[in-house]
Amino acid sequence: MSLLPEPLGQGQAQTSPRRAGFRVGPFRAENEYYPTPAPATRALLAHLTLEGAIWEPACGEGWIAKELARAGYDVVATDIADYGYGTPCVDFLDQHLPRAKHIVTNPPYGDGLADAFIRKGLSFTERTGGTMAYLLNLASLCHPDRHGSFVRRPPSLVILLDECHCFPNGKPQQATRWSRTHKYCWAVWDATPATTTELRWASTAEFTDVAIAKRNAQLKKGNLR
Ligand SMILES: C[S@@+](CC[C@H](N)C(=O)[O-])C[C@H]1O[C@@H](n2cnc3c(N)ncnc32)[C@H](O)[C@@H]1O
Repeated sequence: MSLLPEPLGQGQAQTSPRRAGFRVGPFRAENEYYPTPAPATRALLAHLTLEGAIWEPACGEGWIAKELARAGYDVVATDIADYGYGTPCVDFLDQHLPRAKHIVTNPPYGDGLADAFIRKGLSFTERTGGTMAYLLNLASLCHPDRHGSFVRRPPSLVILLDECHCFPNGKPQQATRWSRTHKYCWAVWDATPATTTELRWASTAEFTDVAIAKRNAQLKKGNLR
């Protein structure tokens, strides 16, 4: 499946907007809801500064959106389902107009949804001149069906996260073997197609509440610069 805009084939997720409450398989979370722990977004923000508002088009309970807002960004948050945060009942794949210059999200993955989200997102950021940053399963970057697309339209930056667990519905007790073993990265596409991809490493342990509190205490004492 190509990541680039293309004539749509039968059965592709982009052609069939879903309703909230969908499941792509018996062992997958409803709505593909695997929320993003805050340290992952903080790690992204340590490497990426954007100018202008950001659209989180699959916001869930707002785990990413709240971190973006805390960092000072204007955030437009929407989701196909209603998690009590942002604007519900907005199918990203069914949208025709961008709602902000940039897009940052952890998209739904199953059944080609992440690919459709990448295609849709790129079509928007190419219009707004914005940046798109998606939290992706690292293994999805190395796949024969996507190889050509990534070569033709590579992300300008990939940030590898050393540890990140996106549990079904945010609940570790619902974890499957896969949710414990997946490795994640942020893939960042600029509006202007990149010719090369920069690779960076980030440790989420540096961005936990405890680590940040410790750092702030040290800063207060004047032990850190
Ligand atoms: C992997 S979860 C991530 C949630 C949130 N971005 C976060 O990181 O915490 C995927 C989210 O995509 C939403 N979603 C699934 N299909 C969608 C669609 N077509 N349009 C908008 N949101 C969708 C789900 O409801 C769910 O909240």
